[in-house]
Amino acid sequence: MRENGIRCAEGFLSARPAIPRKILNCMLPAISTHTRLLGVAGWPVQHSLSPAMHNAALRAAGLDFVYLAFPIPPESFETAMRGFASAGVVGINCTLPHKGTALDFCQHVSEEARIARAVNSIHFRPDGIYGANTDVEGFVESLRQDAGFDFTGQNVVLFGAGGAGRAIAYGILKAGAAHLSIVNRTLDKAVVLKDELAPLFPDQAISTLALHDDADAIDAVLATAGLVANSTSLGLKDSDPQPCDPVKIAQGAVVFDAPYTAEGSTAWLRSAQKCGLKTLDGFGMLVRQGAASFRIWTGVEPDIQVMFDALKKKS
Ligand code: ATR
Repeated sequence: MRENGIRCAEGFLSARPAIPRKILNCMLPAISTHTRLLGVAGWPVQHSLSPAMHNAALRAAGLDFVYLAFPIPPESFETAMRGFASAGVVGINCTLPHKGTALDFCQHVSEEARIARAVNSIHFRPDGIYGANTDVEGFVESLRQDAGFDFTGQNVVLFGAGGAGRAIAYGILKAGAAHLSIVNRTLDKAVVLKDELAPLFPDQAISTLALHDDADAIDAVLATAGLVANSTSLGLKDSDPQPCDPVKIAQGAVVFDAPYTAEGSTAWLRSAQKCGLKTLDGFGMLVRQGAASFRIWTGVEPDIQVMFDALKKKS
C-alpha cells in the first residue's frame, strides 16, 4: 500500500471519506529535508521492479531514503550522473543500456565490474564515484541460499559469454568451482573471457567450447556437472532452441536460467524438471543483487524476505 502511498491514499480518501486525515497521513511516505535519494537509471525504465523492492526494504529497515526510477536516454547519462553526484544522491542502479557506460564513467570500479564490463550499482562517495557489479553476488547467493548449492570443487557448465555470462563466470570461480566450461556460439568471446579470468583464478580450470561445433565435448562436461547455468536468451519460450538437452545433464545437478518469468520457470527449466533435475530461475538473483546494492549504499543488511515479497507482488 505504501509504495503507491499517495495514489492509494487519495483513492481511499475519495472512496471512504470517513477515514481520519491523521491516520491517512501515517500511511503516506514521510519525505523530509533529511530524506536521501536512491534510484535506478534506464532507458526505458518504467518496467523496473527495483523501486518496489527497495522502497519496501527501506521502510522495513526504518531508513529515511526513497528510491525512484529515472528514465535517462543514453546521450544524457553522464550529465545526469554528474547532476546526481552534485545533488547528494546516494546511489543509482544502472540497467539497460547504461551498464557499460557506467563502467567508463566511474572513478573506482570493483573487480567484479571490471571483469563483467558492467556496472549495475553506482555509489556516490566523498572520495569519488564507485561502480560495483552486484549481479555477481546476486547469482552466487541465490545459488547458495535458494538452491542450497555449494560451489566448492564443482564442475560447472555456463552457456553464454555476453554481459550476464561474464558476471556469472566470475561468480562461479570466485565462489570456488574447480572447473568452469564456458560454452558460447561465438567461441572467440568465450576465449577472451577465459584469458581474463585465468590469471585471477590460477588454481581453477577453465575450458571453452563452441555451442554448435563441440557437441561431444559439451555432452562430456554436462555429464559431470554439478551446476549448469544459462546466461543466453535461448530456451525462454517453448518454441525457442534450448541451450542443451537436459537429458544430457548429470542427475543431481542444479540447472539455473538467468531470466525470471511470471511463471517462475522458463521452457528450458521445465524440460530440466521433467528430467528430475533441480532448477532455479533468475528471481532470487534479482532480489539478491538488489540486497547487495542496498548494503553498499546504506551499510545496512536488508530484510531479504521483504524484498522477495515486494517483488512477487509486482511481478
Ligand atoms: P546479456 O547482457 O543479456 O548477456 P549479450 O551481452 O548480448 O546479452 O549476450 C548474449 C549471449 O547470448 C551471448 O553469449 C550470445 O552469444 P554470442 O556471443 O555468440 O553472440 C548468446 N546468444 C544470443 N542469441 C543466441 C542464439 N540465437 N544462439 C546462441 N547463442 C545466442
